[in-house]
Amino acid sequence: MTSDYPEFVHPSPAVAAFEEQPVSHDDLVCTLISEDQLHRRVAQMGADITRDYADKDPLLICILKGAVYFMTDLTRMIDCSLTMDFMAVSSYGDAHKTSGVVRIIKDLNEPVTDRHVIILEDILDTGLTLKYLARNFHGRGAASVAIATLLLKEGTQAVPLDIQYVGFTIPDAFVVGYGLDYAQHYRNLPYIGVLKPELYAD
Ligand code: IMP
Ligand code: MG
Repeated sequence: MTSDYPEFVHPSPAVAAFEEQPVSHDDLVCTLISEDQLHRRVAQMGADITRDYADKDPLLICILKGAVYFMTDLTRMIDCSLTMDFMAVSSYGDAHKTSGVVRIIKDLNEPVTDRHVIILEDILDTGLTLKYLARNFHGRGAASVAIATLLLKEGTQAVPLDIQYVGFTIPDAFVVGYGLDYAQHYRNLPYIGVLKPELYAD
């Protein structure tokens, strides 16, 4: 990680260079993370959360829509009592760059008061979305707030943030699949790939 944010140091696997990965779809430069790599890493994250939250009955909050596949796979790998809720926020619209403005589109159904919250996010880019959400749940009286992100882009964070669980550290490229979209498309790809830059306008 960049030296600006030493608190991001964590043992997540870094993804191999693009060129070594096969192309699997006409709109992709390459596959970045295969189905098998995803499933193995998510299983490890589930084991880590089971160990850390065994007696805490955590509330896992899935950030729609990008974290849906991550949540369904991850929670099946967590072997302790938990509840789930869903929140939808927008920080991007249909563009590929963050606006820095976080808007709540769908709020939670259950209160977070006195709960041990784990926010499940698909990808951490600038960190503005997660910073906003962590602060928001603390403000609502959560007992603790942890962050589990499937992907962390290297060197793009604009704000310091404590991240407890990271699936993969990836290079600064625009990725789609396994829940991640560009203009709402590509979420259903079962793996994660790098979108061809010519497909999104600057
Ligand atoms: P942040 O607030 O800049 O960290 O942005 C986080 C949100 O931006 C994620 O939840 C995604 O919806 C979106 N995002 C950031 N990078 C990508 C990407 O490479 N592919 C798809 N969505 C992305
Ligand atoms: Mg998105």
